[in-house]
Amino acid sequence: MKRLYLLGLIAGLTLQPVAAEPSSALLDDKPAFIANLIEQMTLDEKIGQLRLISIGADMPRPRMLDALEAGQIGGTFNTVTRHDNRPMQEAALRSRLKIPIFFAYDVVHGHRTIFPIGLGLASSWDLDTIATSGRVSAIEASADGLDMTFAPMVDISRDPRWGRTSEGFGEDPYLVSQIARTLVRAYQGDSPAAPDSVTASVKHFALYGAVEGGRDYNVVDMSPMRMHQDFLPPYRAAIDAGAGGVMVALNAINGVPASANTWLLQDLLRRDWGFDGVVLSDHGAISELMRHGVARDGREAARLAIKAGIDMSMADSLYREQLPGLVQAGEVEIGEIDTAVREVLGAKYDMGLFHNPFRRIGSAADDPPDVNAESRLHRKAAREVARQSIVLLENRDRTLPLNKRGTLALVGPLADSPIDMMGSWSAAGVATQSVTLHQGMLEALGDDAVLLHARGANITDDKQMVEYLNFLNWDNPEVVQDPRSPEQMIAEAVAVAERADVIVAAVGESRGMSHEASSRTRLQIPASQQALLKALKETGKPLVLVLMNGRPLDLGWAKANADAVVETWFSGTEGGHAIADVLFGDYNPSGKLPISFPRSVGQIPTYYNHLRVGRPYVEGKPGNYTSQYFEEPNGPLYPFGYGLSYTDFDLSEVRLSSPTMTRGGRLQASVTLTNTGPRDGATTVQLYIRDEVASVIRPVKELKAFRKVALKAGEAREIRFDLDDEDLQLVNAQLQRVVEPGEFEVQIGLDSQHVKPARFTLR
Ligand code: BGC
Repeated sequence: MKRLYLLGLIAGLTLQPVAAEPSSALLDDKPAFIANLIEQMTLDEKIGQLRLISIGADMPRPRMLDALEAGQIGGTFNTVTRHDNRPMQEAALRSRLKIPIFFAYDVVHGHRTIFPIGLGLASSWDLDTIATSGRVSAIEASADGLDMTFAPMVDISRDPRWGRTSEGFGEDPYLVSQIARTLVRAYQGDSPAAPDSVTASVKHFALYGAVEGGRDYNVVDMSPMRMHQDFLPPYRAAIDAGAGGVMVALNAINGVPASANTWLLQDLLRRDWGFDGVVLSDHGAISELMRHGVARDGREAARLAIKAGIDMSMADSLYREQLPGLVQAGEVEIGEIDTAVREVLGAKYDMGLFHNPFRRIGSAADDPPDVNAESRLHRKAAREVARQSIVLLENRDRTLPLNKRGTLALVGPLADSPIDMMGSWSAAGVATQSVTLHQGMLEALGDDAVLLHARGANITDDKQMVEYLNFLNWDNPEVVQDPRSPEQMIAEAVAVAERADVIVAAVGESRGMSHEASSRTRLQIPASQQALLKALKETGKPLVLVLMNGRPLDLGWAKANADAVVETWFSGTEGGHAIADVLFGDYNPSGKLPISFPRSVGQIPTYYNHLRVGRPYVEGKPGNYTSQYFEEPNGPLYPFGYGLSYTDFDLSEVRLSSPTMTRGGRLQASVTLTNTGPRDGATTVQLYIRDEVASVIRPVKELKAFRKVALKAGEAREIRFDLDDEDLQLVNAQLQRVVEPGEFEVQIGLDSQHVKPARFTLR
C-alpha cells in the first residue's frame, strides 16, 4: 500500500506497482516535494486542502467520502477510532493526487484516560507530571488514528467568570509558558512524525482569555505592553517548542477580529516569531467575520481570512464557495492560496503522512476489538497526576487526614457523579469509567469503617440554568435532577450526617458550568448546595468540603465555616481514588493554586502580578484615597501559589551569591527548606522578582522560577535558583524586551504573598 501510494503521489500518476523502497530523493526533500505537488494541483484541489471538516456536524458521512475522493477536504476532526478514520483516509487516497488527510480532535486533558482539567494540571506545579498527562494523551490519541490535537490551550485567564478558565493553566505568564512548552513536547514527542505523536495546535491565538467581562466570545481590548508582557508569552513558548499548528481565537483584538488580523497572523506570528506551521481558524470563525461587522458578505469574509493568513478554515463552507471566484477576479492571488496550501501540506509532511498515510491508523487486523477496553486506559498515571492536582485550602485543627475508622457521611451532588469527574473537554472519555469520590472512599475504607451516603441537593434548583446546561450538551442531558424536594434531600443528608463522626461534602459546579459558552456572573456555589452546607454545619459535626469546579469560586462561607476545604477541580478518570488518597492521608497534598481566588465577583480581576499604582493600598490601615474597595480588603481570599500540606515547611531567609549582578552575568539565590512537621511531604518553592524602578510601571512582583521539592519529615534542603538577564527583562514603551539596570528584590516563598525578600543591584 505504502509503496504504491508514493509512486503515484510523486509522479502525479495513477497508482503503479514499484519495486524500490520509497525513500525517493524527492520525498526526503520537504520543500521540493511540496513544491512539486503544488505544481500539479488544480485550484479546486488547492482549496480542498484548506478545509477542515467535522464529520457529522459539518457533513454527513457519505458526502464526506465523496468530497474526500474529489480532493475537497484537507483534514477532519471529531472521529476517534481507527475504524472510522480508515475509510476516510482510503477515500482521500483515491483522489487524483492521493494527498492524505489528517485527523484532529480536542484532546485537551486526556483522550480515553481523562486527566484533571487544565487548572488541575497546573496546580501540580510539576512539569514532569504534566508531561505524563500529555504523553499518555498522545499515545492514546495516536493509537486511535489521530494526528493532531487542538491543544494546548494556553490562554491566560484572570477573570474566573469566563467558563474556559477551566481549560487553561491560570493567570501567570511564566507558569503557563512552562506548561505550554512542556505539553507541546509531550504531545509531539521526539518528532510529530513518530507513530505515537500527535501534532500540537496551540490555541486560541490570541488573548482569548481576556474577553471583556469574562463573557465568552466577547471582544478583547488590551494595551500592546500588556499583551507582550503577560498574554502573548505562552503562545510564543508553545511555538518555540515546535508546535506544528496554531488555532486562531474567536475574539477581536483592539478592533480587528483575530481571524482577519494581519498584524497578528502575519507580522507577529510569521515575521517576528518565525512560525512555519499551519494556521487553523476556530469553528466557523470565518463566517463570523460578517457578524463582527468587518465583512459585508461571505466573499469578503473569505478574502479577509485568507489574506490575513488563515490557512485552514474549520467547519468551512466559505473557502470552498468563495475562493475560486476571488482568485478569478484577481482579488486573491494564486500565490496567497499556494502559501496556505504549502503550510497544510507541510504539516502533513511533518506528521509523516506522506511517508505513510496509515502511520497512526494502522491495519484493520490490528484494530482494538473494544476501543473502550479497560486495558487501553492508563489508570496508574491518571491517579498519580490527579493526586498532585489537588490543593488543600483549609485544614483547621488538622481535621484531615481522616481516620479509616468509625462512621463517615458523604453527601453532595458531586459525590457520585461520574460524568462530572471528567470535566469538560473530556475527549473520548467514558463517564462510566471514571471513579467517583463515593467509589474511591468505599474502596479506601474497605471493611474498616461505615460510609453513609446521601445526595443532599441538586447541583442547582434553578430550572433555567439546568435547561441551559443541558442544552449546551453534547450527547445526553447531563444535569439530572433528583425529583425530591430540596427539603427532603437536605433532611436525608442531615440524618445521615448526624449518625457520622465526620461529614465530607462534595459540592461545586457541574462540569458544564465551566466550559465554552459557560460564563457566570456569580462565583458562589449554587444556592441549593449552600443551603445543604448550612444545614450540615448546624449538626456541629466536623465538615470537610471537597470542591469540584472549573474556576476560582467565592469561598468566603467555606473559609469561615468548614473545618477543611480541598480543591479537587475536575480530576478525571481516577479522580475518586486520588481524592480518597488525599482525604485519608495516603497521599499528602502538594498542589498550589495557579490562579487567585477572589473574595467576591466585584474584586475581579484579582491576579497577583498586577501593576503598581500611585496610591497603593496598605493592609490594615483605613486608607482614604488609596486604591481599594471600601467594603472588603484588597487581595484575594486564596492567593496565587497557595496550598497547604499535612506537614509544615519552613523557609530560611534568602541568601544571594552577591549584592550586585552585572549585565550578562548571573546571580544565585538560595534558601533552606525544612520539613518541620510530622510527615513526609512536597511543596513548591516559588521565586518572584520585583523591579523597584524602571522606565515603565512594573508588576508588584512576577514569578520567575519554581521548584517542587519532596522532603522527609525533619529533612532540610538547600534550594538554589540561578538568575540571569532574562529573568529581569521588561517590555518597554517601545515594546522591546530589555533589561534596565537598577534595584531588584528577589522574593522566595511557598505562595505569592508570604515571601522572604533580598535585594540586589543590577549594574
Ligand atoms: C472551540 C475550540 C475547539 C473547536 C473544535 C471551538 O468551539 O473554541 O477550542 O478546538 O471548537 O472542537
